[in-house]
Amino acid sequence: MARILITSAIPYINGIKHLGNLVGSQLPADLYARYMRARGHEVMFICATDEHGTPAELAAAKASKPVAEYCAEMWQVQKDLSDGFRLSFDKFGRSSSEQNRRLTQYFAGRLAENGFIEEVTESQVYSNADGRFLPDRYIEGTCPNCGYDKARGDQCENCTKQLDPTDLINPRSAISGSTDLEVRETKHLYLRQSLLRERLDKWISSKTDWPVLTTSIAKKWLHDGDGLQDRGITRDLDWGVPVMKGEEPWPGMEGKVFYVWFDAPIEYIAATKEWSDGEGLDDSAWRRWWRTDEGAENVRYVQFMGKDNVPFHTLSFPATIIGSGDPWKLVDYIKSFNYLNYDGGQFSTSQGRGVFMDQALEILPADYWRWWLLSHAPENSDSEFTWENFQASVNKDLADVLGNFVSRVTKFCRSRFGEEVPKGGAYGPGEVEVIRELTERMDAYSAHMEAIEVRKASAELRALWVIGNEYLQEAAPWSVFKEDPDRAAAIIRFSLNLIAFYGAVSAPFIPDASAAMLEAMGADGMGWPDDMEAALKGLTPGRAFTVPENLFRKISDEEREDWQSRFSGVRT
Ligand code: 2FM
Ligand code: ZN
Repeated sequence: MARILITSAIPYINGIKHLGNLVGSQLPADLYARYMRARGHEVMFICATDEHGTPAELAAAKASKPVAEYCAEMWQVQKDLSDGFRLSFDKFGRSSSEQNRRLTQYFAGRLAENGFIEEVTESQVYSNADGRFLPDRYIEGTCPNCGYDKARGDQCENCTKQLDPTDLINPRSAISGSTDLEVRETKHLYLRQSLLRERLDKWISSKTDWPVLTTSIAKKWLHDGDGLQDRGITRDLDWGVPVMKGEEPWPGMEGKVFYVWFDAPIEYIAATKEWSDGEGLDDSAWRRWWRTDEGAENVRYVQFMGKDNVPFHTLSFPATIIGSGDPWKLVDYIKSFNYLNYDGGQFSTSQGRGVFMDQALEILPADYWRWWLLSHAPENSDSEFTWENFQASVNKDLADVLGNFVSRVTKFCRSRFGEEVPKGGAYGPGEVEVIRELTERMDAYSAHMEAIEVRKASAELRALWVIGNEYLQEAAPWSVFKEDPDRAAAIIRFSLNLIAFYGAVSAPFIPDASAAMLEAMGADGMGWPDDMEAALKGLTPGRAFTVPENLFRKISDEEREDWQSRFSGVRT
């Protein structure tokens, strides 16, 4: 049994996330966590809300709420939605927690002790109209790299380039829209990550098994002209982790806070402490996941994130970890994703474009979305959500292939043999052949899940469902029944066993339908099927089962058109 630490990029607090956010980190992380648990490994799966910085302040101002109150409310909203999507976090923490405040200040102190912090007097954009500095997202303008005209002061969401507010062309205040801006001097702390360029380069080069998307972005930032510059890690804002050197004040830094991207990844660690504190455990419970001198040397740490997050996780956060000089756990594998687009354009939170998590759950249960999103995960390139594709996938894969199989088998059995696993004949060559095919496919399925090849895994899972369907079609128990009821009983017994098997192996993708299959077969405790032959004999003759409610319903053309027009505009 291995120990696997899994973190998903922590979503900003500023509103409900869209399906593109979901498939870019939390959902595939959940798939992996569920799979690893099913295989008997010890898993710690962490996520949280990212509550500091300008996104939170701006959203709170828009909602006319004090920022702390806004964050507390939105945390609950996001938590309920993640429960709705069945995201199985061990802890969904908050980056504004006391644990994160202390740990962030601790890291800053360690970095300073080790010579990785520099105090810099720099020029920052000041808005006369707003009477304040405009860091990060408080300022918008045109990206100097790609020309996108809604680039933010910290990063261009179009081309992913990290920016400084002073880089923007035609800058304007995101609060008031004012262009009456000037550049003023202010003192800030810089993380001297350039000192670690060689170490980071060597570390990243040693990760030969990482997805190309991850390493190519990391290398670009390491080697391109402006790669791995020292970065300011403090801001002139009210909301955030106050700048302290460990538990000591930091002279000259009074009234300033750490930059959101400095404390956000530290929250992965802090949230694990939030978990252990919440469980009433002592510190060794979380430290064994994070300190390589206290047990974490045996942990495999896997991170999930969208491609825009890669620079921070391959460079800045590792620089924080390494620069601390402490034996904190560094990530072992980074799975990153491209973007999911929406119906010919981009999903966009700021523009309210696309389908958001709450809206999705209002129209269909989580499994429908989980299946489509995971089977179309933007792994090798951007992918696109269209309503036609969604309808086709749900109707074909879920309703026709899997749902129909379950319904035909259970209903036929009930009408001919009653609601118990029929006795009758032994399995024949047809069943033996299916077991052989399933064994082969299961090996491929497991291999793709281990490698976090999400789309390939989903294709194998679908292939497993198809095998059952084709078997049933060919074996045709409804025709055999009259002349050879014993044979029909064997076919049905085998098929009921297949339902339990599908319940076990589909759970990482579609947990609710899987639980329903297992419950209907009275096989709730069924573990991961290692031995296919044994697994398909698990339901013994005479055992009771129930006919489950229709697992999946089809999406009609009218519904599709209705949703298409309902979600074509901008969310207000
Ligand atoms: O891009 C985002 O949504 C960020 N809130 C991700 C932060 S991930 C990490 F650093 F914690
Ligand atoms: Zn750009």
